[in-house]
Amino acid sequence: MENVTGNSSRVFEGHYSDLGDWKRGDVDYFVVPQRWEDYTEEEHAIWRDLYHRQMEILPGRAISLFMDNLKELGINDSQIPDFDEVNKVLMKKTGWKIVGVPGPIPVEPFFELLANRMFPVGTFIRTRDQFDYIQEPDVFHDLFGHVPILADPVFADYIEAYGRGGLKAADHNAVYMIGRLYWYTVEFGLIQEPEGLRIYGAGILSSPTESVFSLDSDSPNRVKFDVKRLLRSRFFIDDFQDTYHVIENFEELFEATKPDFLPYYEEVRELPTIQPTELIDSDIVLHKGTGEYAKKAAENRAARKKQKQEAAEKADK
Ligand SMILES: [Fe+2]
Repeated sequence: MENVTGNSSRVFEGHYSDLGDWKRGDVDYFVVPQRWEDYTEEEHAIWRDLYHRQMEILPGRAISLFMDNLKELGINDSQIPDFDEVNKVLMKKTGWKIVGVPGPIPVEPFFELLANRMFPVGTFIRTRDQFDYIQEPDVFHDLFGHVPILADPVFADYIEAYGRGGLKAADHNAVYMIGRLYWYTVEFGLIQEPEGLRIYGAGILSSPTESVFSLDSDSPNRVKFDVKRLLRSRFFIDDFQDTYHVIENFEELFEATKPDFLPYYEEVRELPTIQPTELIDSDIVLHKGTGEYAKKAAENRAARKKQKQEAAEKADK
């Protein structure tokens, strides 16, 4: 696997579907204490190094509110932040709080936390060996990537509405569709600011390589955000995006979650899935990608698949 994405949420993949005794209404079921005092010096040092690496890249690339909110929330290079301290500011700003989780949690409890204005943050931090790539969202991805954006009041409302929509989607076998909306906005969204294109997606903000690729590379498409289009849009979890979806402002996102999605789901079920590299007639294309990187990535994926198959065949003999 190429060490490219830095981090990505696997929450919609269904790999972590063990619900245990969880039932709707058990909002705290997967919540664990952060135990801040248990972090080692080395873990704080890893945070510091990750923080510095992103800070060399993000000024002028991250959405303008990002730097201010980091500072205001007390998220800095000194140490892994204490959730209680962050919450003192975050609660005042948007009524949201962050809660600790041991790792990725199943989708329905995840949606339920969001619907209750609680954002789950992995309490662990990656090791030095995982410095460039980790699949499970750790404290750096969750706290550094997501929380500064969550301190924006409109975005905060969007995520709550998303959580409520997610629970409804779970009742209608549509989690895979609404998961795509999360992926291409909360994790990998771009925003058009007056000064230029900027990043607001946490999957990009916590990845040094995708922070550059998403804005500077000629390879990916960049299209205007369209919620129904996103419900149809497949993604790969372990590589850069082939298409980025660009919003004008957070109001646009929040407005998009207002309609009842049930008719959308019915409509989308009848339509073909849109592949990551694909553009469709209704797209407002801001940049038509060369697809050069996507081609290479597809070759790598095919090679990995072949390797896996060969290894499995060998093991069978
Ligand atoms: Fe995430």
